[in-house]
Amino acid sequence: MSCDLILVLDAPTPRAVAPTLKRLSGTVRWAKVGLEMYTACGPDCVREVADMGFKVFLDLKLHDIPNTVAKAVESASRLPIGMLTLHTGGGREMMQWAIKAQREHAPSLLLLGVTVLTSLGEADLREVGVSASPADQVTRLGQLAAGAGLSGLVCSPHEITPLRRVLPSEVQLVTPGIRPREASLDDQTRVMTPGEAAAAGANYLVVGRPIFKAPDPVAAAEAILAEIGRR
Ligand code: C5P
Repeated sequence: MSCDLILVLDAPTPRAVAPTLKRLSGTVRWAKVGLEMYTACGPDCVREVADMGFKVFLDLKLHDIPNTVAKAVESASRLPIGMLTLHTGGGREMMQWAIKAQREHAPSLLLLGVTVLTSLGEADLREVGVSASPADQVTRLGQLAAGAGLSGLVCSPHEITPLRRVLPSEVQLVTPGIRPREASLDDQTRVMTPGEAAAAGANYLVVGRPIFKAPDPVAAAEAILAEIGRR
């Protein structure tokens, strides 16, 4: 199974990380634009990152009624992006409408589902009326998403094996929470190394600080790519 690297741009603007981005263009193929950057500078920053030579993963985690999410997917299809996220908790119909819009307007766009945010524990789920454990809820939502026809899921590296057990093999798994063996954990707790996550069946690894905070970001990215067999 092939695995690739996605660079996280946790910054308010592409300009804030431009020197590192310029150095990494040509080494790393994908960059993730999240809510912070998108809320600050919108479609322009997506175009800016794409113009620097990256395929863009737009992590907006859409969650609304089916028609609104489908229209948002249609709007996003006009941007130079390769991946877009939505919340699987929006339900089957919401996912189906989103997939229909994606197939019509952006056939090569990978729509990814977010299941249970890893910031939520068992007690948090109970508080919002979910009695299942986080692990069971992840599997339930993962199966619902795959059944609805979604192409992939964002998951913690520790959810890869249980999800792979129940999902069709073509479902793409995208995982943050990755730390090379020698890297600082920062605020991450249950991490895997790039090699471990790739061996477990991840298709894309989402990595930020271990690259941005490294003394040599290009060397750090190259080491991860080598570990997952990309170099
Ligand atoms: O810097 P680091 O490699 O920890 O960045 C990981 C990225 O993935 C951050 O943007 C973080 O918000 C996101 N993320 C995560 N864990 C999750 C979901 C998303 O670290 N469970």
